[in-house]
Amino acid sequence: MRRPLIVGNWKMNKTASEAVAFIRDFRERVAASPHAEVVLAPAFTALESARNALGPSSWIGLGAQNVHWETHGSFTGEVSAPMLRELDCRYVIVGHSDRRTLFGERDETIQKKVQAALRHGLSPILCVGESLAERETGLTESVVTAQLNGGLAGLSPQDLATVTIAYEPVWAIGTGRAATTEQAVTVHRSIRLFVETGWDNDTASVVRILYGGSVTPQNIEPLLASDAIDGALVGGACLSPDSFARIVRSAQIQRV
Ligand code: 13P
Repeated sequence: MRRPLIVGNWKMNKTASEAVAFIRDFRERVAASPHAEVVLAPAFTALESARNALGPSSWIGLGAQNVHWETHGSFTGEVSAPMLRELDCRYVIVGHSDRRTLFGERDETIQKKVQAALRHGLSPILCVGESLAERETGLTESVVTAQLNGGLAGLSPQDLATVTIAYEPVWAIGTGRAATTEQAVTVHRSIRLFVETGWDNDTASVVRILYGGSVTPQNIEPLLASDAIDGALVGGACLSPDSFARIVRSAQIQRV
């Protein structure tokens, strides 16, 4: 059984001191549970303070929002996987639609980032998802498959088993218009089939597939009611300790 994973992607929000205040408040509201894993992905500048506020071996994991594929060198403004590992990051979000659309990231660089993360012991969270125009013209599956191919080609089953895939339809991100459970489940099933066909059954049965796009305390329950959905990548609703705690608590009781 896959353990549900709830990831809070703060995007470009919260300074280091705001991150610490969030963590203090959030931890008052929700306790650790074996039934769900929780990860926060602050901005790079808040990672160290967040790590210190969480303390050693916290039940709340840390993730970064991006990574460069080289370990060091002349890459002004970039951050490498070893730098993130030293801050106790376990996860890194790769290929978020903000990165693809606003910063011109393409599958080739996304693939290099996935591989660099894995080489340095970080679990990549690979984001895929179609635009509204692509959905309306029936291209959802082919767009998502191309992005999966682009990000994951050549990985060993062992490596792929540690990757998380996040299905984030672009039209659902920050719009208040989440995909219905049915819409998400259809795509999640095709993603799992892609892994099964390209790798094998065992790998397909362990890879976690999250849904992201306007997840709230109100809609998390029906989404997680399907065993095709292994958790959520949350944006806006993870910025307040109260709403993120409510989402996490729902996940903790859903698969008990
Ligand atoms: P929202 O939850 O704000 O729609 O953002 C989703 C997202 O992009 C998480 O990575």
